[in-house]
Amino acid sequence: MLCSRATRPFASAFVRTAPLRVVRHSSAASEGAYEHLKVTTPRPGVGLITFNRPKALNALFTPLFHELNAALRAFDSSPEIGAMVLTGSERAFAAGADIKEMKDKTFADAYGADFIEMWSDLMHIKKPVISAVNGYALGGGCELAMMADIMYCSVGATFGQPEIKLGVIPGAGGSQRLTRAIGKSKAMEMILTGNNLSGKEAGERGLVAKVFDSAQECVDGALDTAEKIASYSKIAVKAAKEVVNKSQDLGVREGIEFERRVFHGLFGSKDQKIGMTAFAEKKKPQWTHE
Ligand code: CAA
Repeated sequence: MLCSRATRPFASAFVRTAPLRVVRHSSAASEGAYEHLKVTTPRPGVGLITFNRPKALNALFTPLFHELNAALRAFDSSPEIGAMVLTGSERAFAAGADIKEMKDKTFADAYGADFIEMWSDLMHIKKPVISAVNGYALGGGCELAMMADIMYCSVGATFGQPEIKLGVIPGAGGSQRLTRAIGKSKAMEMILTGNNLSGKEAGERGLVAKVFDSAQECVDGALDTAEKIASYSKIAVKAAKEVVNKSQDLGVREGIEFERRVFHGLFGSKDQKIGMTAFAEKKKPQWTHE
């Protein structure tokens, strides 16, 4: 069951190192089932996943990813959920791949077992995901935040791909997504030097959609946006996410053709009739998600 606005969990101060507080358990992804995450449904239609490994600054390791993927899939398949928010603590979104977990791996371990392949399951989630980044988002943490559909951060956020300092390179898409987001020269500089980008700079360079003054405002802002998205037709939202993502893979001409086909297809949905009729009759649309 979803909870109302009146029971929002973020009215009080953001706890510095602790993850976000739980308000109501989701029937889709029960909080009790997770050790390294907090999973809640703080707003109508919104699933919130909070990394909960404070002692390791939310360093990303295999058990956490098993849980994250399960929580994402549960929300993705829940008819109650329309959008998700992914966040960490005020100190760290995630300080990267767990260096202690991977330091002794051999090439055969990494290549043979497709190490970190499962980190990209987020890419297969069909509902919109917003990352709300506070504190460190380094290495795999930065890469995971960039896999989300919308990125928000607070001014105090720190983005970086410091793998070069460990004798490796980004391995979860950082070299590709960061380059597309902020351009080759700046991405190259960050990846080759290991230098970080502040939250403020991330906003200026278009890595994130919005920069907030505080961690609290960042999470609240992400929840506001997720709630707004969740209030629309799920069919239209799904189609919108799909066509925007296609722009990353297709040339402009093919992308526009794809968009047109999907646009035409939506005239077969009930929600297109509901949305346009409601506008013409000056009423609020009551979506059926069909
Ligand atoms: N892996 C494992 N443990 C980590 C970690 C990581 N990536 N980042 C932080 N921790 C642990 C620390 O070891 C420390 O644990 P102990 O108390 O048991 O020693 C705890 O978190 C707190 O960290 P610090 O004491 O270092 O905190 P700090 O405030 O002094 O520094 C920091 C914070 C700058 C984020 C620093 O911890 C740091 O540089 N972390 C590593 C960042 C990094 O290199 N990330 C990239 C990893 S590689 C990767 O992600 C590959 C990929 O592309 C998939």
